Amino acid sequence: MCAKLFTALIIFNFTIFINCELIEIEDGKLKGTVLKTRKGLDIQSFLGIPYAEPPEGELRFKPPVPNKKWERTKDATKFGPVCMQLYEGTEYSMSENCLHLNVFTKSLNSSDLKPVIVYIHGGAYYAGAALFNLPDYLLDRDVVFVTLNYRLGIFGFLALGNEHAYGNMGLKDQALALNWIQKNIAKFGGDPNQVTITGMSAGGFSVTAQMASEMSKGTFHKVIAMSGAITWQTGLDRDNIELAKQVAQKLNCSTNMNDLIDCLKTESAKEIAAVSIELLSLTWVKKDSLQMNQISCLRMEISPKFRIKFLYLIESKILYHLALLSKNESLELLNNKFPEIASRCFFFRGNGIKTTEEIANIFKKHYLPFEKIDMRSFNSLAQLCGDGTIGYGVHKFAHYISKFTDVYYYKFSYIGRYSNFNYPGNKPYGIHHNDDNQYVVVSNNPPMIKESDPENFMVERMTRIWEQFAKYGDPNNPNDEFLADMNWPKHNSDNEYFLDIGEYFIEKQGLYLERYQVWDNLENSSYSQFTFSSTFSILLLVMLLKISF
Ligand SMILES: *[C@@H]1O[C@H](CO)[C@@H](O)[C@H](O)[C@H]1NC(C)=O
Ligand SMILES: *[C@@H]1O[C@H](CO)[C@@H](O)[C@H](O)[C@H]1NC(C)=O
Ligand SMILES: *[C@@H]1O[C@H](CO)[C@@H](O)[C@H](O)[C@H]1NC(C)=O
Ligand SMILES: *[C@@H]1O[C@H](CO)[C@@H](O)[C@H](O)[C@H]1NC(C)=O
Repeated sequence: MCAKLFTALIIFNFTIFINCELIEIEDGKLKGTVLKTRKGLDIQSFLGIPYAEPPEGELRFKPPVPNKKWERTKDATKFGPVCMQLYEGTEYSMSENCLHLNVFTKSLNSSDLKPVIVYIHGGAYYAGAALFNLPDYLLDRDVVFVTLNYRLGIFGFLALGNEHAYGNMGLKDQALALNWIQKNIAKFGGDPNQVTITGMSAGGFSVTAQMASEMSKGTFHKVIAMSGAITWQTGLDRDNIELAKQVAQKLNCSTNMNDLIDCLKTESAKEIAAVSIELLSLTWVKKDSLQMNQISCLRMEISPKFRIKFLYLIESKILYHLALLSKNESLELLNNKFPEIASRCFFFRGNGIKTTEEIANIFKKHYLPFEKIDMRSFNSLAQLCGDGTIGYGVHKFAHYISKFTDVYYYKFSYIGRYSNFNYPGNKPYGIHHNDDNQYVVVSNNPPMIKESDPENFMVERMTRIWEQFAKYGDPNNPNDEFLADMNWPKHNSDNEYFLDIGEYFIEKQGLYLERYQVWDNLENSSYSQFTFSSTFSILLLVMLLKISF
């Protein structure tokens, strides 16, 4: 039993009991703590468990290395530090020593194993942390919940093409954590044979990327991807080494390759984070070094056990556009420079077959009805940006993967009081990136939804969908009062079914197909000189990722 902290707590006038749990895993003993779900159930919580050696010093930019065993009981009652990023608060510490995970469970009974849901946080690969995603909703259901940190920004994604930094360290961290879960989760009452990985935005990119990785093969069985897929049509046209040089310059280091490596390995993590942050990490994710002969591997790797569902959000970048539209300078820029900047802003890189001007014209013709871009263009700009950043990539992935496995595809359309976008008139307007996620995990913002709140039914639905899917690979459960009205058919490219999750569940067909046709045409034209079909190009994109793991 763990030491009673009760006496100390009385002295300091606390009124809480710490009812700690002790558990032993292969690496050593852990002392956890007890949190409560919003319905008052106990959550045995083991926080800040290391799954890798701290990636500091010689290990900076290296693939993660499993940690050594520890001797004394490890205090697992507090979250570990967040990974290096531009975090300015003081509430949480930040460190390169951040490769920790957190396990939340209701019962440690190893003869009654529960399905495991692993949450990979979003934040465009340069922000976010496991501790911002709490289990209070999901632990009302019958599951074990795991959250994990992975390296971000330059620490997670620097790619120099040599042994100093092969790239995609952040994704490799995730893969190592998934292997840790296979080895240890039964001790926490979790079933290693029923693991579902889920995530939003960069989390969605991540879970789909893990499907193409050898390193995480066999460590998970189902996937729930929210608003993101690795089949995103392009990164920005930036070169990884060029990015590294920019960072070196800002650190006042020489950009000669040897000096650059020394500099990046020895400068303080804080300095590096500060100067590299504006270089969006998504652009660092390494998708080069394609090898054609590896393409057939993907087909074999995707076992029929995978189940995927997606959220698609049309207004995913609406805030960005509000910023654009509310500033005369940016509106002017958009109006005057549209032909030059559109392909970059909306993520279809010129490819030598279509010029950036031609791409801009296609966007304009299909999305922007007015000659001049102004407030009237608000919705159409949001559609263009949403399709470019998230929607089209997700659409391709869902279509492609449905050839191999069951896909349940959804669009979220419920607007609660804490919808992430308030405009105009400071009231919820439209659906925004991250809106579904707020009914699955609790974050620091918005406030936790209580049982008496009008949004409670959505928490009940979403957590039940997650649980049902994690258990059976099919979200439907007509016997559950919150899901009784739901009839969610499987999606494939013939039927195009999806579920609209709003006030009601509504079965629909064909999500934004006309708009996606515009992107299909662009992609087909890009690859036509190699006579690739678009299906083939999807295969390519997924494979690009695989090879760089
Ligand atoms: C553990 O689970 C088994 C199977 O459900 C049950 O029979 C047993 O009573 C449980 N043990 C405890 C301590 O709850
Ligand atoms: C680099 O040098 C400039 C000019 O001397 C200085 O202002 C800046 O703070 C230096 N940057 C770093 C990261 O040391
Ligand atoms: C933009 O310019 C117009 C006309 O010149 C002006 O009325 C408006 O207030 C300006 N808006 C902003 C946000 O500066
Ligand atoms: C793109 O190519 C694929 C495969 O040949 C085809 O199925 C699809 O209809 C094409 N799309 C367009 C818009 O031509």
